[in-house]
Amino acid sequence: MIAGGCSGPAPGIARGEMLFDTCAPCHGDEGAGDQELGAPAIAGAADWYMTYQIEKFQEGVRGYHYTDAEGLRMRPMSRALFADRGDIESIVDYVFSLPIPDPAPTAEGDAEAGEAEYEALCSNCHGVDGRGIDSPVPELRAPSVLHLNDWYIASSLRKYRDGVRGAVPGDGAGAVMRGPMAGMSDERIDNVTAYIMTMQRLPRRIPGPPPEPLPELIVDASILPEGVTVDMAREGQEIFHGDGICVTCHLRGGEGGPLAPSLTDATWLNIDGEYESIVDIVMTGVPQPVEHPGQMLARAGTSITDDQVRAVAAYVYTLSR
Ligand code: HEC
Ligand code: HEC
Ligand code: HEC
Repeated sequence: MIAGGCSGPAPGIARGEMLFDTCAPCHGDEGAGDQELGAPAIAGAADWYMTYQIEKFQEGVRGYHYTDAEGLRMRPMSRALFADRGDIESIVDYVFSLPIPDPAPTAEGDAEAGEAEYEALCSNCHGVDGRGIDSPVPELRAPSVLHLNDWYIASSLRKYRDGVRGAVPGDGAGAVMRGPMAGMSDERIDNVTAYIMTMQRLPRRIPGPPPEPLPELIVDASILPEGVTVDMAREGQEIFHGDGICVTCHLRGGEGGPLAPSLTDATWLNIDGEYESIVDIVMTGVPQPVEHPGQMLARAGTSITDDQVRAVAAYVYTLSR
């Protein structure tokens, strides 16, 4: 039976190759990108990342802002891929089979200054080698930046900074990436981009094993302030390491890292450490950190509810006690 003009081969690489004819005019025959059209290299991206971004375009979570000319160009293209025909898997399989591009720098920037910036602000998530970090939790995965063109990196960083990308409520991964970009000047963006272009081109990362399950939280109920329960603290532990994305900056168990302080000791930088002060700071974020380079957004930029904030604050409360 003939299903229509878009049928063709069954799901798989051959179908992906056929579908790629509609992508090549912008992304190039080898998927290495086209600066004039603002279409980035897609060959070289991880399969999970391509799938995730295509779905974001389809749902209008990316390419939503009226000033985002490139995103608006891509968004209708994503609509031509049909989930029920396996189109996304097919095209991703095909693009994944293309050689990883090694783009030449086109812009100027101080790569040395950018190196310090990258180490302090980016390496935590994108890895010291820029290959990205795989995690079974989509919000906690960071993509590779090694195959990308510098004009695209710099333009994406500005979009995150300005809320033109990653700012739709519920876009956890976008919020994760907007945190370190808050208030970054164009010059610093150009420097960090220049540094990324000097990084050695490495093959893709092979996904690692899933993270260890969280340890059971043992809490002495008598230390908890009024209205706070052990169950809240346990729920908060899940939120801290999941939807609340706190773990991306404060690291597992709140031990702290280059992007955010330890929450396990008696030293507090912005608050007195009492339960209500923790609730308040999670609600409002930290626009001007005392010691750390990037901001914490209100509710970490996520859409966790008031009750979830109170639960995650209960968990944080137990960590230093
Ligand atoms: C009309 C031009 C055009 C066509 C055709 C097109 N794209 Fe795009 N695509 C873009 C532009 C421009 C961007 C960059 C958007 C931005 O800057 O945020 C993009 C971004 C993407 C991204 C995100 C890359 C990243 O690193 O985040 C993916 C994945 C993608 N396109 C896949 C495809 C696939 C698959 C097809 C074919 C079905 C396709 N595109 C067809 C213009 C196009
Ligand atoms: C807390 C973790 C985290 C930190 C820190 C971080 N990123 Fe990201 N980055 C992400 C995530 C998650 C995404 C995917 C966001 C999305 O889906 O829009 C991302 C996306 C990106 C992209 C877009 C890639 C593409 O193909 O479109 C670039 C470029 C990037 N980051 C560069 C940087 C740079 C440079 C820094 C440091 C200044 C940085 N990131 C800091 C997590 C992080
Ligand atoms: C993008 C990185 C980032 C994320 C994500 C993040 N934080 Fe933070 N957090 C910070 C920074 C930066 C500070 C302020 C550090 C400073 O002042 O130097 C901070 C401060 C705090 C403080 C106050 C610590 C003090 O000593 O004053 C608490 C409590 C806290 N965060 C809890 C959370 C919780 C709970 C979440 C998840 C809902 C979260 N944070 C998500 C970066 C982050």
